[in-house]
Amino acid sequence: MTQEPPVTLARAMTARGEIALRRRGTGPGAVHELVVAGIFAMDSVDVTTEVALARRVLAGVTRPARVLVGGLGLGHTALAVLEDPRVRRLDVAELEPDLLAWARAGLVPSLAAVTADPRVRLVTGDVAGLLTEGDGVQDRYDAILLDVDNGPSFLVHPHNARLYAADHLRATLARLAPGGVLGIWAAQREPALLDRLRDLAGGAGWPAGSVTEVVIPVARESHRFDYALYLATAAS
Ligand SMILES: C[S@@+](CC[C@H](N)C(=O)[O-])C[C@H]1O[C@@H](n2cnc3c(N)ncnc32)[C@H](O)[C@@H]1O
Repeated sequence: MTQEPPVTLARAMTARGEIALRRRGTGPGAVHELVVAGIFAMDSVDVTTEVALARRVLAGVTRPARVLVGGLGLGHTALAVLEDPRVRRLDVAELEPDLLAWARAGLVPSLAAVTADPRVRLVTGDVAGLLTEGDGVQDRYDAILLDVDNGPSFLVHPHNARLYAADHLRATLARLAPGGVLGIWAAQREPALLDRLRDLAGGAGWPAGSVTEVVIPVARESHRFDYALYLATAAS
């Protein structure tokens, strides 16, 4: 990774703290960084798990025509969804309006590529609200991908705790179309979340083995992290 000091591309203060986009280096090797709520959220050095979230979920869906991604970030999960030609529409819900404005302004290539795709609809606001509004069949998604926080045991935004709570997970699972898949990204293994999903989606009416945990080891500098994906598949 480039050791050059970062250049701030844009920054703003929000009710939740500072949000900023930064770049290290230039050209194809440039690394982009995102700060949300005053905390380093991610960079583009290694986005294998963000991409894996999209690929693993879409691999489990026969016809992923309509997809929801919660949390735009640097756009890598959304871009991996858009690589799939079966996807006809991608809704991306993002809490921070400034980030959406910077994406539309093309400040970062990955974000510009997301906003340029005509299948994308950007929604400003909390994905939790979007998931609990409307419950008609027309509002169902073939895939719902959540990467809004580090996981329930390590939250950046305390209010995101509700997304991982049983009531909200039940409502989220109810928004899956038949055969649809919910995928949740976490920066560490989350055994309580796995148990909760198994309680909600492991019983009658759900296919055998409908809930799985995928652990992805990632090495960063001299550290090793076990990132994890939680997948739940609805009956067809
Ligand atoms: C770690 S980033 C997502 C990274 C993304 N998967 C990628 O590939 O670049 C988390 C994003 O979720 C947004 N976010 C946090 N809480 C949210 C919520 N409740 N609803 C919608 N977006 C949220 C943050 O502002 C941030 O843009």
